[in-house]
Amino acid sequence: MRDIIDDRYFTRNFDYWSKRGISGPKPIVGFGNTLHRFLKQTTSLEIEWIHKYGPIYGYFEGNRPVLTVADPELIRNILITDIDVFNAAKESNPLFRSKAHPILSQNLAAMGGRGWRRVHGVVSPTFSPSRMQVIYAHMNRSLDNMAKELNSRVSASAGNCTQVEMVLMYDRLAMDIITISAFGLDVNVWAPDGHRNEFVRNVNVVFAANWLRMLGSVLLPRWLLVAIGLKHPVLETANDGRNYNDFMDIVLRHKLNETNAESKSSDANYITENEILANSWVFFNSGCKIVSSALSFATYELARNQRIQQTLYEEIAAAVAPDGHIGMDALNKLPFLEAVVSESLRLHTVSIRIRRMADRDYRLGDTGITIEKGHTVDIPVHAMHHYEPYYPNYQHPKPYAYIPFSEGNRVCLAKRYSLLEIKTTLAKLVRRYRFYTTDNTDIPVCLVSSLFHHSPQRMVLGVEKRV
Ligand code: HEM
Repeated sequence: MRDIIDDRYFTRNFDYWSKRGISGPKPIVGFGNTLHRFLKQTTSLEIEWIHKYGPIYGYFEGNRPVLTVADPELIRNILITDIDVFNAAKESNPLFRSKAHPILSQNLAAMGGRGWRRVHGVVSPTFSPSRMQVIYAHMNRSLDNMAKELNSRVSASAGNCTQVEMVLMYDRLAMDIITISAFGLDVNVWAPDGHRNEFVRNVNVVFAANWLRMLGSVLLPRWLLVAIGLKHPVLETANDGRNYNDFMDIVLRHKLNETNAESKSSDANYITENEILANSWVFFNSGCKIVSSALSFATYELARNQRIQQTLYEEIAAAVAPDGHIGMDALNKLPFLEAVVSESLRLHTVSIRIRRMADRDYRLGDTGITIEKGHTVDIPVHAMHHYEPYYPNYQHPKPYAYIPFSEGNRVCLAKRYSLLEIKTTLAKLVRRYRFYTTDNTDIPVCLVSSLFHHSPQRMVLGVEKRV
């Protein structure tokens, strides 16, 4: 903590950008531009900044200069062509600094170099194409259970409809699917006593997060993580002897005791217990919260655009096979569904920005700018998705201007899984229900933002059962 305070808030560096002729928002003494994010929604702020200062500007996190790059050509270089310069551990994210949290700093999204390559090699088969059919079956089963819950709520109210808080529904759905798909745990959150399940309770403790609580859970010492049960169900209960070939099976097959780890070459095919814990955290956080947010936003857009919802319904109804199901391949080929999902991820980008750190001094294309070794570059994905010059024609944005899952070797590990879950859910629900806005729907959506993500605070929608 002392380290964060020392170098971020008490030394001044505010002429860094002006000396280099790079424009950007004016920093405030003691805060840089960090305070701006508390005073205004981060996403609106970044849209305002890109329009005001253009695709390259500098700002300050405390005293630390951060360059923002929103130019698609330069982004291609950073994410793909010059990846060797930008594959360092992301110490620049205060939550993942190794000094701030020795365990969480070992999650894949924060790791760099050879350590990242080794852990990525171990865990990436979790969402390989060959596992998708099995996961698709899990998704369908969980959605059938969710439909029973929705049906009982509709039956309990007058008419053929009711109002539902969709964020809570999708939180449960996403948790049900990620626990079975990645951890081999059948917690069935839809059962009447599902919320009493020890695993579900522990996860809720970690994720029932306002910002402070989440920060607290990120900075918790190891003994407390163990005490709240993150370690217990993940490392022990999941290993029940059955072979799911999921994340937990895969990592346990490659698990190495910390004491042996040092004798192994860093290229070897192993993962340590702390790396398993850190990556379990990322899988839960992303598998529950990020997917749930993406689903809530997509359903909100459908509720507000009845004509589009109807077109989607007709496409889905026409794709249903004689046995009443839609196969995974058929689902992935539905063009209107694809368009709805892409547009929703553009409008409501859940991972609002991507961060990289330069491993050495780097000349940024022909801009004349040098990013110094150890300095941070931000890619404001959400703001780029709302920058009109990149979308002259909405069907064909400029290459690298639309990157909701990032690109290159650090592309989201679960992109395939997430897209499948979003499509399966929309297809299954829109086929059975019509969503609409009510007096209780927040328009616009009330957002909860962190440094890198945002999500809807709540999402009350009307749900009408189709007959
Ligand atoms: C709609 C859902 C999701 C979106 C939009 C999304 C977006 C992203 C983005 C933009 C990145 C790149 C971050 C960076 O480069 O700094 C990323 C990385 C990552 N995501 Fe996702 N994500 C989603 C769901 C998930 C899920 C469900 C999981 C796991 C179960 C997951 C696991 C990861 C991991 C492990 C990384 C780090 C990859 C690496 O650095 O090698 N994501 N995600």
